Amino acid sequence: MIKGFIFDLDGVIVDTAKYHYLAWKKLANELGFQFNEEQNEAFKGVSRKRCLEILLDLGGVKATQEQFDHWMIEKNEDYLRYIEKMDVSEILPDVPKILDFLKANHIPMALGSASKNAIPILRKVGLLSYFKVVVDGNNVTKAKPDPEVFLLAAKDIGVDPTDCVVFEDALAGIQAANSAGMTSIGIGDTTILTDAQYNFNNFTEISTDFIKQLTTI
Ligand code: BG6
Ligand code: MG
Repeated sequence: MIKGFIFDLDGVIVDTAKYHYLAWKKLANELGFQFNEEQNEAFKGVSRKRCLEILLDLGGVKATQEQFDHWMIEKNEDYLRYIEKMDVSEILPDVPKILDFLKANHIPMALGSASKNAIPILRKVGLLSYFKVVVDGNNVTKAKPDPEVFLLAAKDIGVDPTDCVVFEDALAGIQAANSAGMTSIGIGDTTILTDAQYNFNNFTEISTDFIKQLTTI
């Protein structure tokens, strides 16, 4: 029976996946090559550092350590310029419906994200107080698909991993949830999130009855 809910952030709670994409695309273009949405799929759920390594491989660009560090900073500064303008309107549809329902039923919620910008984003959109625990890119050493982020989140909300459910938009995140022994719910393209135990295009398709069945509230 599910007793704890863990949410990824980017692409699940807020539509920031598009801002990550735009910032990486800008850097790729500056470095003289194209970068498209299909290539961006592999960047979802993946740490900033790993994303830059993949990007440079795609463009066949060799970087010195100094250039690498500079581009990491540049991408993040571009990304933060988008974040700066965010408000509640960028919470994905019906996410508050599920968060409110869980809160009303006193079910603990945790955030499990690879991002180092998770807390400022949650603050910007006014959702930080829903989460008992935030585990993000600042707290983990192993990136998804390693289950570390979700196992830490489960431990911190005091729920056994097998009693947790994870909402994820990235294949690496679904794999991390499955390795943690958790119930995985894919949010987004069902043809990509094939390893998920449940699939929904977005939260408008998730009813409170579905949540009740998972939890036996
Ligand atoms: C994940 C995103 O949530 O966070 C990735 O899906 C991103 O695309 C990663 O690279 C790291 O984010 P940040 O905000 O620390 O650069
Ligand atoms: Mg995500």
